[in-house]
Amino acid sequence: MLNKRIGILGTGSSVPDKVLTNADLEKIVDTSDEWITTRTGIKERRIATENESASTFAHEASIKALRNSGINAEEIDLIICATVTPDMAFPATACILQDMLGLKHIPAFDLSAGCSGFGYAISVAEGLLQSGQYKKALVVGVDLLSKITDYTDRSTCVLFGDGAGAVILGEVEDGYGILASELGAEGSGAEFLQIPAGGSVKPATKDTVKNKEHFIKMAGSDVFKFAVRIMADCTQRLMDKVGLSPDEVHWVVPHQANVRIITAAASRLGIPEERFFINVDLYGNTSAASIGLALDELALSGKLKEGDHVVMVGFGAGLTWSGLLIKWGGGKNNVGE
Ligand code: UT7
Repeated sequence: MLNKRIGILGTGSSVPDKVLTNADLEKIVDTSDEWITTRTGIKERRIATENESASTFAHEASIKALRNSGINAEEIDLIICATVTPDMAFPATACILQDMLGLKHIPAFDLSAGCSGFGYAISVAEGLLQSGQYKKALVVGVDLLSKITDYTDRSTCVLFGDGAGAVILGEVEDGYGILASELGAEGSGAEFLQIPAGGSVKPATKDTVKNKEHFIKMAGSDVFKFAVRIMADCTQRLMDKVGLSPDEVHWVVPHQANVRIITAAASRLGIPEERFFINVDLYGNTSAASIGLALDELALSGKLKEGDHVVMVGFGAGLTWSGLLIKWGGGKNNVGE
């Protein structure tokens, strides 16, 4: 039995200024705007510069989320950062972010669940807030996949982009906030999406660099099949837990990987496509950032109303998945500039 209702008090996001279009990619690899658009729905993505890192965008997204929630940074007593592209292997980017925000002593850690990381981090934060040890959490999903993408591999380089999304979590009025959540993993699919070298299995050597083993390797169609199945099944289970019909779901904010995955999931669920928020055309797949970035755009668009039922559902490396069903609002200073 939950004693508190934990919800989203504010959202924020941040992306690099630099735009990489499909036309730009046509000059780099053997691809076409037509192929990328029809197979993925992506038109452009944002790419960080050499001097920008995960903490650059995590910081900006956090500042905006704090502003939108109307709370001071000092009220945050927990930071979780979901990322597979931290500033460095360690310390955690969350610790670097804590210092950038001028905060001290509060717990700060990273969480690795690939593109499902944002939902994982929100669920972990919710549990810690439920325990009563902490009152307000900053959760950030940030990834700069351009830093681990092989720009000679057309099967992956057209897909990925960079960015960050953040939320402030805290107690909301009864009936609002997180109504149901689900986290899962199928470790047998680990090989479908990975960076083979740079860990303890294959530490970095000249050969691993020469063989491009520090870049993303993906079995695209295996991930695709998993994604469609899990997005639909997880969303259905969340609806069942809360007792909602497809008509009662106002918005689905899915992981933004491929429009075809989203439309296939929509048709399996019987939820009209218009209720799926989509911005993959503008940012590509930004991994752990994607749901937070989409949620922030949806919130700022004014389309999200107090009391709306919102599903956030993602899948990614692991293979993992995460889903949350939220009743939007119920906070004193809820979302909006
Ligand atoms: O966040 C989680 C991470 N990943 C994902 O969500 C990705 C999930 N998977 C996908 O979105 C899709 O599987 C892809 C977009 C990656 C690939 O689409 P697909 O429809 O599954 O294409 P495919 O891999 O089956 O390739 C079809 C053809 C191949 O040519 P042949 O063998 O049929 O002659 C590829 O070589 O398309 C070719 N191809 C390309 N052609 C032009 C692959 N990439 C490209 C490209 N431009 N960029």
